[in-house]
Amino acid sequence: MLRIAHALNSHLLGALESAFPEAAAAAREAGTPLDPQLGPASKPEFGDFQANGALALARPLRLAPRVIAVAIVERLAADPAFEALCLPPEIAGPGFINLTLRPEVLAAEVGRRLADPRLGVEPVAPGGAPVVVDFSSPNIAKEMHVGHLRSTIIGDALARVLEFRGHPVLRLNHVGDWGTQFGMLITHLKQVAPEALDTADAVDLGDLVAFYRQAKARFDSDETFQTTSREEVVKLQSGDPTSRRCWQLLCDQSRREFQRLYDRLDIRLDERGESFYNPYLEAVVADLAAAGLLVSDSGAQCVFLEAEDGTASQTPPVIVRKSDGGFNYATTDLAAIRYRFAAPPAGDGARRVIYVTDAGQASHFAGVFQVARRAGWIPEGGRLEHVPFGLVQGEDGKKLKTRSGDTVRLKELLDEAVERCEADLRRRLAEEERQEDGDFIGEVATTVGLAAVKYADLSTNRITNYQFSFDRMLALSGNTAPYLLYAVVRIAGIARKGGADAAGVAFPTPLVFGEPQEWALVRQLLQFDAVILEVEQELLPNRLCSYLFELSQVFNRFYDQVPVLKAEDPARGSRLALCRLTADTLKQGLGLLGIPTLERM
Ligand code: ARG
Repeated sequence: MLRIAHALNSHLLGALESAFPEAAAAAREAGTPLDPQLGPASKPEFGDFQANGALALARPLRLAPRVIAVAIVERLAADPAFEALCLPPEIAGPGFINLTLRPEVLAAEVGRRLADPRLGVEPVAPGGAPVVVDFSSPNIAKEMHVGHLRSTIIGDALARVLEFRGHPVLRLNHVGDWGTQFGMLITHLKQVAPEALDTADAVDLGDLVAFYRQAKARFDSDETFQTTSREEVVKLQSGDPTSRRCWQLLCDQSRREFQRLYDRLDIRLDERGESFYNPYLEAVVADLAAAGLLVSDSGAQCVFLEAEDGTASQTPPVIVRKSDGGFNYATTDLAAIRYRFAAPPAGDGARRVIYVTDAGQASHFAGVFQVARRAGWIPEGGRLEHVPFGLVQGEDGKKLKTRSGDTVRLKELLDEAVERCEADLRRRLAEEERQEDGDFIGEVATTVGLAAVKYADLSTNRITNYQFSFDRMLALSGNTAPYLLYAVVRIAGIARKGGADAAGVAFPTPLVFGEPQEWALVRQLLQFDAVILEVEQELLPNRLCSYLFELSQVFNRFYDQVPVLKAEDPARGSRLALCRLTADTLKQGLGLLGIPTLERM
């Protein structure tokens, strides 16, 4: 409905300007043009939109808001293009203008959407700057944990929404493939499992993680080991061929494991790990020094942070170079920001860079964002955004663990979701006395199981901690993936029964609606474009989830109370059109969350 909202806004603006030409000219001059303050109606009984601008204008115009509202409404009444969109406006309370769209305008919008594969979502102008989504980003040879899974799922959904809007998106996997962990690991492996350093697939990622833990324990307790590990890091950094080969092998090993998970979840990522930025680290330090930002603090090179008001901040400084000359996680992130905003070919030429990590890294990002801004690396209009999320907890509210107390392996977590789904499905088929073959059962269980894991993660407000519960995410009722997938099957089935599912099927023109449940569904359907734009701006996928859940509920009320498939009913065609558009909208919406839909369940 954004298209209509834009049109209304220009009519309102025109009315304001013609009613108060002097004030309008003065406001434009001052760079703050008059604003009709058009927004969605605060209650359905007020219509579709309301314009609250009269209240803010009362003071500058020295008029009662109601008088201003009356003047605006009078001008609108003389505007035939406005009259074609809206019923006569009503003034409510102190001076709110309530606007109700004409039924035929809403119906025509539904008709337009049925023929539009983008479902009313306008694309951005082509040729725009890329948006970077930095997500997933596990660490080589370390556990890929549920936090990384959350990042992977949320980041992918955000990337899909941005791509659907037409932005070129760089899906970057900023894997932790560099740093002191490799010194320890290589030193340890040389002694206990040398084959891991020269043979591919000699160990799997699980073993590597165990080796890494042992190496870390030795590093913390054994001084000789520490020294050798440090030397190993130096060798690696100076490009020693043997060290490089070992490193490469370890990275490949982890990469293959990560890739299995991405393939399974249908997630595309371009790996650009920390090591990519090694050649740019010196330049970062040089830039910061030239900008006068570097301070030496007990041998380390730091940037001290400023509070919002420009005074010295209490938070610890960003350490750019350690006293031993080594660089940090923060230095790499600074190099990454610099590179991502830099114009091609020296960089990505991005204008928006989004980081999806747990909320625990909020102060890290706040620090590096500030340093980047003060270093002058962020171009006009450039946006850096941290998209934080809460912890994944077990049902006991503590950190998610397996029953035996170990950290949960992601593969096993997904396997369990699929297995439980299969058990549920077999039970349901037995109850319904349905016969289905193994392929069907496998496909449904896999799709629903993985969808449940994704949806459970996406549907909670990502900022809050989230309690992982198989029972809840796999429930067939409530705001869950199984419920929504089932709704799609059912609604698409209704459309199919009515012959309204095929691609080029003709719907009545104009569509005609009369019942309140029809109008409720029409209005809910037409919100889709606004919801997508909101997710694009606010980066909250749970908004899309709530919308889809609500849509399926509004549909249920409609279908319960209005006959759809009754032959010879003159309303049949228009009602089937609503079924079809509901199914399409649910499919598209779930698709943007990374969830494929099923034909049958
Ligand atoms: N590897 C990091 C971790 O596991 C996440 C990296 C996030 N991205 C970034 N540019 N810092 O916590």
